[in-house]
Amino acid sequence: MKAWSERVRREGARIGFVPTMGYFHEGHLALMRRAKELADKVVVSIFVNPIQFGPKEDFKTYPRDLERDARMAEEVGVDVLFSPPVEEMYPPSFQTFVEVTELSKPLCGAKRPGHFRGVATVVLKLFNIVSPQLAVFGLKDYQQYLVIKQMVRDLNLDVEIVGHPIVREEDGLAMSSRNTYLSPAERQSARCLYQALCLAQKRIKEGVQDVPVLKEELERFILAHPFTKIDYVEFCDPETLAPVARVEQETLLALAVFVGRARLIDNTILKP
Ligand code: PAJ
Repeated sequence: MKAWSERVRREGARIGFVPTMGYFHEGHLALMRRAKELADKVVVSIFVNPIQFGPKEDFKTYPRDLERDARMAEEVGVDVLFSPPVEEMYPPSFQTFVEVTELSKPLCGAKRPGHFRGVATVVLKLFNIVSPQLAVFGLKDYQQYLVIKQMVRDLNLDVEIVGHPIVREEDGLAMSSRNTYLSPAERQSARCLYQALCLAQKRIKEGVQDVPVLKEELERFILAHPFTKIDYVEFCDPETLAPVARVEQETLLALAVFVGRARLIDNTILKP
């Protein structure tokens, strides 16, 4: 991978990179197409990163299908699919980690200890291996996008980070590899995440600004759907992720909801 990147860079080409954990859906493919527009060559990595999963999380059962992914990436025109083995990324002597301290604290960071340390570490390793000038991240993982941008700034990396809008199913459900965990009945319930985001925007248009009032209504709405369990419903500053008490400026509404065994996340930027 390093030899390829060195050669391509010497020829003057711009490398665009899309890191993923595979099991592609239209969201992943949209990131790849965006990278193709913005760069000369596109590298996509597939690596289910063990160190970003908690001990009770789904590392072992995370869906994998390298052959299907390879076909899909080829159709989009990806130049290199990079899928390193776990033992090569983390040999037994491995002991260096990257921590983006403040942005990793709230939301998913609070619910998944060590998650963003695992993400930042693997993304820095992948950046060093692939040497991209540009990398595309989905805004579905909004906190991850902020964490990576902060790491790039703090560690003086020469990679431009591009955020890509959330790609949704026709009924609004954000695409996710984890949607494959949903039974048909759970899939119906899963629509409530996107519907909750829309409900919040509607209430704000009607003049409701008080976050506890909004939160209460959203939680009640979500829990009215079978198989749901709320992990968090938070209103935050879209840059610092600090909690917000009233929606008076653009505000991030971030949701994490278990639907059956699938932990789903979604978010939107609310406009007052
Ligand atoms: P993964 O969940 O496979 O996602 C890979 C990229 O696709 C991320 O940037 C994610 O935000 C984006 N993505 C996923 N679903 C999307 C959707 N519906 N719309 C738009 N973008 C979407 O995120 C990871 O992998 C890992 O944490 C990784 C960054 C690869 C580090 O291991």
